[in-house]
Parts: sequence; structure tokens; C-alpha cells
Amino acid sequence: NVQKATNVKYESHHVSRDKRGKILGLGPNKGFRGCTIWFTGLSGAGKTTISFALEEYLVTNGIPAYCLDGDNLRHGLNKNLGFSQEDREENIRRVAEVAKLFADAGHICLCSFVSPFVADRNMARSIHQDNGLPFFEVFVDTPIEICEQRDTKGLYQKARQGLIKGFTGIDQEYQKPEHPELVLKTASVSLEESTLLVLEMLRENGIIP
Ligand code: PPS
Ligand code: MG
Repeated sequence: NVQKATNVKYESHHVSRDKRGKILGLGPNKGFRGCTIWFTGLSGAGKTTISFALEEYLVTNGIPAYCLDGDNLRHGLNKNLGFSQEDREENIRRVAEVAKLFADAGHICLCSFVSPFVADRNMARSIHQDNGLPFFEVFVDTPIEICEQRDTKGLYQKARQGLIKGFTGIDQEYQKPEHPELVLKTASVSLEESTLLVLEMLRENGIIP
């Protein structure tokens, strides 16, 4: 039922990534830093908290970074999507395409989405890697007991009461990452330490100096 666009041709930019990085890259270590960091995990695991802290740190240090967050994008671009498996797939597809554009423009794009299905996260990865853009999958590995204890938005309680259907971890599946680039165990690792672990990963991969 999806209308496919026909008679469209991909148009190439005149500005290469290398040129973008050399001219627009900030500070003494100019260069292309475009990449996507993809945070996945249960609701309340800490995806938003960690990615917003990283955005603040990076921007404060003159490194272009921008967060795409599930709750926020569902207010705009993805406001017509719900939480069925199908809608979650479309959510992730759109977000991954947007993240690819941010990364291509030279930003470190921080994505925080429950993204409970392996196939959808692999699609997000391919959308980047097929375009030569680094993609880091970060599993925010917080046990459901702790997420439910925190219940910062009261959603677990509602899900338990049957007021929310298809809630991840309650009556819909969360498929753990098979080969994430990084695992953050927020039950035993502080926000500051988690942030440092992500920065270390970016340094090891030559993204930041
Ligand atoms: S997904 O699975 O990636 O498409 O979800 P996402 O776009 O990240 O949206 C998750 C946020 O929506 C709220 N919410 C739910 N989460 C999971 N399952 C159900 N059924 C649901 N209904 C609403 C919730 O605030 C999620 O945000 P986080 O930050 O993960 O708690
Ligand atoms: Mg969140």
C-alpha cells in the first residue's frame, strides 16, 4: 500500500565529506566526524539521559552533535506512528535515514530509541554503513526490574494495569543486541562513567581527538 516514488534519480553533492571536514571541522583537529551512535534499550533504561549528556559535552567542546530521541520525534516526524511491530520498524527506518543525513553533514548523531527488534537495528546500521558512515550500536543494558522500579514516566505501572498495550518488556518483546559496539550497565555504572565509555569508544575509532 506504500506509493513508490518513480522517476527519481539520486543527485550527488558537489561537496565531499573530506572537504566538509577540512573546512567546517572545528578546532586544531579539523576533520570529518560524521557518525551515528545508536542507543537501544528498554523504556527507562537511560538512553535519553546518556545521549543528552553526551550532546552537551560534545557541543560544549566544539564538536557538532545532535540528539534524535524517540519521545521527541514521535511529536513531529513520526507522530502518525504507534507501537506495533510494523510502526516501530517504520519509526526506525525514518530515523535512521535522518541520522544518516546528520552524519553525512558531519555531525555526531546520537539516536535514543527503544528499537527492540534486531532486524530494525541492523537496517539502521546498513543505512549508514552502505553509505560509508560509521555506526556504533550501544546497548543500554538496564534490567527490567530496575527500569520498572525507576518508572520515571509511570508507564510500567500503566502497562501492568493493562492501560498500555504492547509495552516493551511487558507484553512486547525486546531483542537484545547480538554484537553491540558497547554495553552500558547503568545499574552499576554511573552516568559520568557511561558518558566516558562512549567518548573512549569515539576516540579509539578516530572520531574525536
Ligand atoms: S521504538 O520501539 O524505538 O519505536 O520506540 P521509541 O520511538 O523509542 O519510543 C519509545 C518511547 O515512547 C514511550 N512509549 C513506549 N515505549 C515502549 N513501548 C510502548 N508501548 C510505549 N508507549 C509509549 C516511552 O516514553 C518511550 O521512551 P523511553 O525514553 O524509551 O522511555
Ligand atoms: Mg527516553
